[in-house]
Amino acid sequence: MTDIQATQAKRTQDQGSRAVFQGDLSAPDPLPEAAIEAATRLMRDGRLFRYGEDRNSIPEAALLEEEFAAYTGRAFCLGVNSGGCALFLALKAVGVEPGDKVLVNAFTLAPVPGAIAHAGAEGVLVDIDDRFVVDLEDLDRKAQSSGAKFFMLSYMRGHIPDMDEVMAICRRHGVTVIEDCAHTMGADWAGDLTGSFGQVACFSTQTFKHINSGEGGLLVTDDPDTAARAILMSGSYMLYAQHRARPPVEVFERHRYHTPNCSMRMSGLTAAILRAQLPHLKERNDTWRHIYRRLEGQIDAIPHLRMPKRPQAEGFVPSSLQFSVEGLGDEQIQAFVQAAAQAGVHVKWFGQAEAVGFTSRHDHWRYMAEQQDGPLPRADRLLHGLCDLRLPVWLKDEDCDVIALVLAQAMELARQPAA
Ligand SMILES: Cc1ncc(COP(=O)(O)O)c(C=O)c1O
Repeated sequence: MTDIQATQAKRTQDQGSRAVFQGDLSAPDPLPEAAIEAATRLMRDGRLFRYGEDRNSIPEAALLEEEFAAYTGRAFCLGVNSGGCALFLALKAVGVEPGDKVLVNAFTLAPVPGAIAHAGAEGVLVDIDDRFVVDLEDLDRKAQSSGAKFFMLSYMRGHIPDMDEVMAICRRHGVTVIEDCAHTMGADWAGDLTGSFGQVACFSTQTFKHINSGEGGLLVTDDPDTAARAILMSGSYMLYAQHRARPPVEVFERHRYHTPNCSMRMSGLTAAILRAQLPHLKERNDTWRHIYRRLEGQIDAIPHLRMPKRPQAEGFVPSSLQFSVEGLGDEQIQAFVQAAAQAGVHVKWFGQAEAVGFTSRHDHWRYMAEQQDGPLPRADRLLHGLCDLRLPVWLKDEDCDVIALVLAQAMELARQPAA
């Protein structure tokens, strides 16, 4: 345990009759020493740009791509400057043209519809079910009615739909799947890693994701043309041969004069600190699962709070936790959220009228409103009661117990009749 983690653990205490959580749920954990050393080494060397016209050493970004491709079991990998840019490049690389329709589940975060808009495409929102994943019937219906040939499947907050069903529906309609794995690095469905289902899959390495470089994204695929187009478009100039997890140069020759350079490269510094974190990913994901399990039953036992039922096949890696508030009006939900915040537990409520911080709801993406062909009744109902809690990986069992107690006491306060 690092000094900072030890301090966080000590900060959790019970003050009199009212529990207060004194850690900071928004605090990331420090990077491993190896990451700090790798960054320092690279800064001394000065080669922060991933390419060099005449270089003898292997660039950090190329090594990271090689290691991440091996980790995901995919043939090709590209590092870029953010998860949102990885999604944009993925859409362009699989052939999305301006005006094309792209199906997307309605529970996701703003960068996902943002990537679709960036590609000039039209997002077609698909409803969700009570596991907060894409509603399979609505997916089938909208694939048929919209004629969309692409589906950006976002595993928002790490929730994974029945992938056998999703892939069967997409095959039936000739729909290409692009996976948004921003919240599922290392997760699986029935043993198959997320990121291994679609034609292309994208990951984020923003600070609150499973590995942290502040900003960063990774794209993986087995398709040589998709990989070559994404690499060229990310801004490889004519130095694409310096990539290691890439298709043969002949594939690039087919695309190099037809693909614009969008300058979305990953820097060497980003890659260096990510490489040092990758070996710790499994251990971190195990810790997150433990934290989730510690909180799950305690939260589910609080009146009006419900944890989603998660099937055996869903090997999730929860860097956050979601629960629904049922049977309370808006004022009481607001009172619950406020009471929890006053006791140090900041819960994000997706039902709030205005988007705040990292909450984001489909009706906030008004630039897409005209593209929709009807309401999303289940998404609206489910998101109205949805609360979200960030789970820093440094949480100890005692921290989890105080957080659960804070939520229980906040609920008691919220249910008291107004004086
Ligand atoms: C579900 C989801 N997809 C994609 C992204 C995009 O990642 P980035 O912030 O790296 O652009 C995020 C970011 O938080 C996200 O939550």
